[in-house]
Amino acid sequence: MKILVTGGAGYIGSHTCVELLNKNYQVIILDNFSNSKKEVLDKIRFLTGKDMKLYEGNMLDKKFLMNIFQENEIDCVIDFAAYKAVGESVKKPVEYYTNNVSSVLNLLDVMQKSNCKSLVFSSSATVYGDPKTVPITEEAEIGGTTNPYGTSKLFVEQILKDLYQSDNEWNICILRYFNPVGAHPSGLIGEDPKGIPANLVPYISKVASGKLESLSIFGNDYDTKDGTGIRDYIHVVDLALGHIKAVEKLCKVKKGLHIYNLGIGIGYSVLDLVKTFESVNCVKINYKISPRRAGDIAICYSDPTKAKKELGFEPSKTLEDMLKDAWNYEKNS
Ligand code: WQD
Repeated sequence: MKILVTGGAGYIGSHTCVELLNKNYQVIILDNFSNSKKEVLDKIRFLTGKDMKLYEGNMLDKKFLMNIFQENEIDCVIDFAAYKAVGESVKKPVEYYTNNVSSVLNLLDVMQKSNCKSLVFSSSATVYGDPKTVPITEEAEIGGTTNPYGTSKLFVEQILKDLYQSDNEWNICILRYFNPVGAHPSGLIGEDPKGIPANLVPYISKVASGKLESLSIFGNDYDTKDGTGIRDYIHVVDLALGHIKAVEKLCKVKKGLHIYNLGIGIGYSVLDLVKTFESVNCVKINYKISPRRAGDIAICYSDPTKAKKELGFEPSKTLEDMLKDAWNYEKNS
């Protein structure tokens, strides 16, 4: 079975390609390397002993996209390619909507013209905005997003729902990620954002390695057990395995539109992460309490029941595993 992975050299994309190749899927990677590095491809080859095709280019170029489908009989697409920095999206809304929404419109147009209607779409828990209740189920209200990144994901979800309404032959899985963290246990691939990390775990890793001086904890006056923000962290390898389950589901059902939360169903605070990172890795994390970050919410964690019941998805890695693997990658990179 041939899978096109857009953004396949990226953080979640590369980990998913490793698991796809390990399960003997044929993988084609599309990437423009705007937020990833070519050297990741050789690491995927090394880790799996398998090869994959690469198409370097931009999904905004419809001719480039069409050529991939003309040259390959693609059975399913996993669409990771998107900009994903919440803070940056507030400053660059036009770039975010162009890249995150127009590229998907191009992809869908080319897919239907190529009669390929199986899609796994990388969405985000940010579509829930500031949730009224936690844990969050897939039936929870969506909307009220607090930044263009989250809104771009909300827009694409709506596009996919409208597309499915117009043609029930489509076969779509929307996966709403909570907070992907950690790295492949080999330490060869992991989260390697360009510049200063916006997300918590890569930032903590760089403080631990001395590349950054100290962590700013954005607010300790939230209505939580210790005042700091609570999130649902999921190991990136578990998340990658969730995509395999989604592909298997699409192979089974042949048509439909399915939505799943991918999280572990446990909320950890920022201070939980700092303390756990220090204890599992025997390092000290310098931090200071800073003002809240615009757009942040207090608490967000999933009810993972539906993915477990319908996909058989059961993330197994603990917070300790996530932070040990994150540190191992930082030491290796
Ligand atoms: C986690 C917690 C911060 C950095 C975003 C996207 C989500 C996904 C993951 C793409 C919060 C606190 C953070 C720091 C801090 N992106 N924090 N100091 O904002 O929950 O989710 O990234 O897939 O879609 O919305 O993740 O790691 O930025 O923040 O105190 O230097 O850590 O306030 O409570 P977030 P995050």
